[in-house]
Amino acid sequence: MELIREVLSFFIRDRFYINNLEVKVRKTISVKEAWEIFNRYNKEPFHRQHAETVALVMRWFAEDQGFGEESDYWAVVGLLHDIDFEEYPQEHCRKAPELLRANNLGDDVIRAVVSHGYGITVDVRPEHQMEKILYAADELTGLIWAVALMRPSKSVADLETKSVRKKFKTLNFAAGCSREVISQGAVALGWELDFLIEKTIEAMRFWEKNRELA
Ligand SMILES: [Fe+2]
Repeated sequence: MELIREVLSFFIRDRFYINNLEVKVRKTISVKEAWEIFNRYNKEPFHRQHAETVALVMRWFAEDQGFGEESDYWAVVGLLHDIDFEEYPQEHCRKAPELLRANNLGDDVIRAVVSHGYGITVDVRPEHQMEKILYAADELTGLIWAVALMRPSKSVADLETKSVRKKFKTLNFAAGCSREVISQGAVALGWELDFLIEKTIEAMRFWEKNRELA
């Protein structure tokens, strides 16, 4: 009985163990392929820029968080996270599994993508560090970029955490960027809000310097 339980738990672990699944993803899809898939469903330059931003931000965070070997995988998830938003805004994160499955993406990518709608449109909680960062940084990249565009440099290069923090409190500024989601994301990561902002500014500096994705 004990043996059966051990064998079963091995298979369950093996089946859901994220590293095994990530290996599969790295073999089946590149960042370039993900970009082509995303563009099939998204024509608006704003949406394409947001996907590219989040992909490169995720790539930077993978390195920063000690997941350097998975940086392409994190970038793929960042790139695809809003795949359903342009065509199916009312079904955001609920339509995504169908679109991703139709393009042969695995359950791990689907889970990660869907989890960024946690508490908004779905009840899949971000659990992996990559999922928590996607959840926390997605809306924050929009806020940071809105603050950067108000500066003479129109860049994140000289943007300070305190400037973003100030606008974070001004709720009618970039009102579409949910302060609640950003705050909850910081809590899930166990980070102070200022620390999350500082890290995401750094990640966006990486994006600004490396904007060619494919
Ligand atoms: Fe997004």
